[in-house]
Amino acid sequence: MKKFLDLGLQPLANSYLDGKDINKKEKKFRLEVAFNPKNYLVSILNTVSKEKMFNENYPYKSSESLTMRKAFKQFSTKIKKRFKPNSILEIGSNDGTFLKNFSKKNIVGVEPCKNLARITKKKGYRTFSEYWNQKLAKKITKTNKVDLIYSANTLSHIKNFSEIFKAINLSLNEKGILILEDPSLLECIKKTAYDQFYCEHIYVFSSISLQKILDKYNLEIFDIENTSTHGGSNRYFIKRKLNNFLKITKNVSKNFKIERKNGLHKLSTYKKFAKKVLISKIKLNKIFDNLISQQKKIIGYGATAKSCTVLNYCKIKKTSIKFFYDTTSFKINKYLPGTKIKIKKYKKLTIKDVDYVFLGAWNFRNEIFKKEREFIKNGGKFITHVPYPRIL
Ligand code: TYD
Repeated sequence: MKKFLDLGLQPLANSYLDGKDINKKEKKFRLEVAFNPKNYLVSILNTVSKEKMFNENYPYKSSESLTMRKAFKQFSTKIKKRFKPNSILEIGSNDGTFLKNFSKKNIVGVEPCKNLARITKKKGYRTFSEYWNQKLAKKITKTNKVDLIYSANTLSHIKNFSEIFKAINLSLNEKGILILEDPSLLECIKKTAYDQFYCEHIYVFSSISLQKILDKYNLEIFDIENTSTHGGSNRYFIKRKLNNFLKITKNVSKNFKIERKNGLHKLSTYKKFAKKVLISKIKLNKIFDNLISQQKKIIGYGATAKSCTVLNYCKIKKTSIKFFYDTTSFKINKYLPGTKIKIKKYKKLTIKDVDYVFLGAWNFRNEIFKKEREFIKNGGKFITHVPYPRIL
């Protein structure tokens, strides 16, 4: 493992603080990122136990965003058309934003965060509130293996993926299909989006690294779709190597080629990326210093896990951002970890209240800009750090 980036001491990204805990010492860990030249895998070096991150206080709900609701709905329709699965298993079903597009008798959810699993259980969906592993795989698919397994933004959160793939191999039909969806390393590098790294994002995958992992479990990618969700993601369609019924599409070699052309198999690429990250930090601080010297009122929009990395790495002061707006009920009236900036219930932006808005949820820029048309028309401005720090 070759370390190439140090994002400093960081709190747990989704550990939003209650007012009463604001003066308590927070648990911090050193966020360092490394590259493995053998399998091209990029991962964080110091990890936090899954029980500390994925428990019954998990705040992230995919249904909070229109973009995600639409993306899951559209993809569900595509799955039904292309693969016609009779049985589906979703690993990391969150609050059911994907699940609910299928009939209750055809789909099973696995979601270790009890607060989220409760939501789908209540709606009548068979949901197992446990971590995905071989034991659970045997329990769920004891008599019937499944035609399709889907997992979005979950594999990148799990340290021991050996257990994951062994469990998948136990549950999937011989001709079954596995679909994985996670942020794209290529997009992360291109956009200098270093905030894709935080405690929960143990890995940011490239297709070349994922295929190296899959080789060990006799699985292979037969198609790839590049999507815009979460700042640029890849959707990998995977089959057993022995299954010759499905042909490998040109998209696979195309993605492998583009990633190699961009040097994702070389350490030098990541060293260059680390230099860009440092410049990004300096530039973002300059923007904040400049606006604060002009006494501009700055707030944040979208108290994301990603913002946690940015604010703590760049050491943005608590006084620089008055508060964050967020739509997630669980986050409201809490404080961002580390910087301890307050999170308030979302209200439409007006130029009377705010001058500049730091775009914490930059991955939802289009959705947000549509919502805040009036504010923008009246001269309201946004600050972003992606792909480089600037005012929009
Ligand atoms: P997201 O970027 O998906 O996640 P992460 O925490 O993994 O970095 O989180 C988006 C956050 O932004 C979520 O807390 C909801 C919030 N949000 C708003 O407050 N308003 C909006 O219009 C949108 C799209 C998101």
